[in-house]
Amino acid sequence: MAVTTKRKAGAAKTVPGLRPGEFIRVLISSARIKTRLQQLARDIRRDFPTEPLHLIGVLKGSVFFLTDLARELGGEVSFDFLSVSSYGHGIDSTGEVKLIKDLDVSIEGKTVVVVEDILDTGLTLKYLLRFFEEKKPKHLRVVVLLDKVERRIADVRAQYTGFVIPNEFVVGYGLDFDERYRNLPDVCMLQFASRGKAKSD
Ligand code: XMP
Ligand code: MG
Repeated sequence: MAVTTKRKAGAAKTVPGLRPGEFIRVLISSARIKTRLQQLARDIRRDFPTEPLHLIGVLKGSVFFLTDLARELGGEVSFDFLSVSSYGHGIDSTGEVKLIKDLDVSIEGKTVVVVEDILDTGLTLKYLLRFFEEKKPKHLRVVVLLDKVERRIADVRAQYTGFVIPNEFVVGYGLDFDERYRNLPDVCMLQFASRGKAKSD
């Protein structure tokens, strides 16, 4: 499902924690996210109707997405989390991926669904897929809430995608800017007074 800035972005919004010079515009409302998650859950269950599903969330951005999606998926569901650092502070990708927190339980023989908040260059997912494949899951699938397709460098794709979005820096629904704004219920664009768009490359 493609989202465009012109049609969907609302007026600048005042939200708790907003700092001077920062502007927030809703890109995808929480209601729209909920509806899309129900469809994603149906798509995943159509492919794996009876399999126990083991969700792996990539901390911390995917936390709300994973917990909401888990509740939409019927049947047997378990989950685990791992943490990687692909970005330093701020908004620019270094392209480096480092494992910060490993999985708690083995994924060997399991039907694994990797749950990612956003697919950008794809470098993080490329690293993760190699990491998971070595652990011999029965199936390995990826669900992403957001996909900035035009930013892709690595040749990776998700089997299930919530929304294809333009190249805007987004926060909310788990996504952060220096750890702030994760608690916004909507996915919002973050823009700065002095620099225009947060991400200009
Ligand atoms: P890559 O480039 O490896 O990046 O696909 C994936 C990770 O980068 C972060 N990311 C963002 N985080 N707003 C954010 O809050 C964004 O617009 C954004 N774009 C990329 C995110 O952690 C993701 O997992
Ligand atoms: Mg992430």
